[in-house]
Amino acid sequence: MTTTSRHDAWHAGTSYDQYMGRWSRRVAPRFLDWLGMPKGLDWVEIGCGTGALSAEILARAPATLMSVDPSEGFLAQARANVADPRAVFRLGDAQALPIDTASSDVTVSGLVLNFVPDKAQALAEMQRVTRPGGAIGFYVWDYAGGGLEFVREFWRVAVELDPAAADLMEDKRFPYCTREGVAGLARSGGLAQAEVEAIEVPTVFADFDDYWLPFTLGAGPAPGYCDILAAGALQRLKEGLAASLPREADGAIHLQARAWAVRAPVR
Ligand SMILES: C[S@@+](CC[C@H](N)C(=O)[O-])C[C@H]1O[C@@H](n2cnc3c(N)ncnc32)[C@H](O)[C@@H]1O
Repeated sequence: MTTTSRHDAWHAGTSYDQYMGRWSRRVAPRFLDWLGMPKGLDWVEIGCGTGALSAEILARAPATLMSVDPSEGFLAQARANVADPRAVFRLGDAQALPIDTASSDVTVSGLVLNFVPDKAQALAEMQRVTRPGGAIGFYVWDYAGGGLEFVREFWRVAVELDPAAADLMEDKRFPYCTREGVAGLARSGGLAQAEVEAIEVPTVFADFDDYWLPFTLGAGPAPGYCDILAAGALQRLKEGLAASLPREADGAIHLQARAWAVRAPVR
């Protein structure tokens, strides 16, 4: 299984927003608060998806923003979500950015690096496009630490029913998505002064349908897995989750999501 598995199914912008975008939108402002960059800078963002982090960057008065993603579907959704003349959304890959050397003050990436096959190359590219004296920041979910609880619960039940699905679990696929793992990734990628911070947000689902529906929409690794299940297997997975998720008195499902954020100066 490669990290660019077909189960990743990164294409459908509106589905992504319902599945992950609604939670990534909560992490983005917390990450930017921690990054603490001044106004009026040139920003580059890698793997913008539907624009969750782009929108937050634009809310903090940058001079320019160049956001890159390899998915045309996501870029179309990002352009629709974030209509701002300071922002340019461009097709591109983290490993070979279509961006001039030393053209950015701050280069960031939210929930992307674990999906990039050559992470060292992606970090080298982030440094290449960033001016000396600038900064790099990125974050990934705490997959390996179990900190993305709604996804962890999904796979717990999925693997009970279908042990072969264990290969698809993000905690196995992305073992470096821990505090120590991202620190090591940053250091080995040339960011010697990298600092790491936990960002935790609540993920509250109004009821079981609110939890389940996004898994059936096809965008992301777990929804990609649901997509290939036969109807009976999908129903058993749904029932298994419905029976085991913790519920509040009003039927809501309260879970947490933790991301590991990294920031580093560029020399
Ligand atoms: C989990 S989404 C995150 C999207 C957005 N940054 C957010 O916070 O909601 C992962 C994103 O990484 C992008 N991606 C995957 N492989 C990539 C690569 N090699 N280079 C750049 N982006 C990539 C996907 O197209 C997708 O938009």
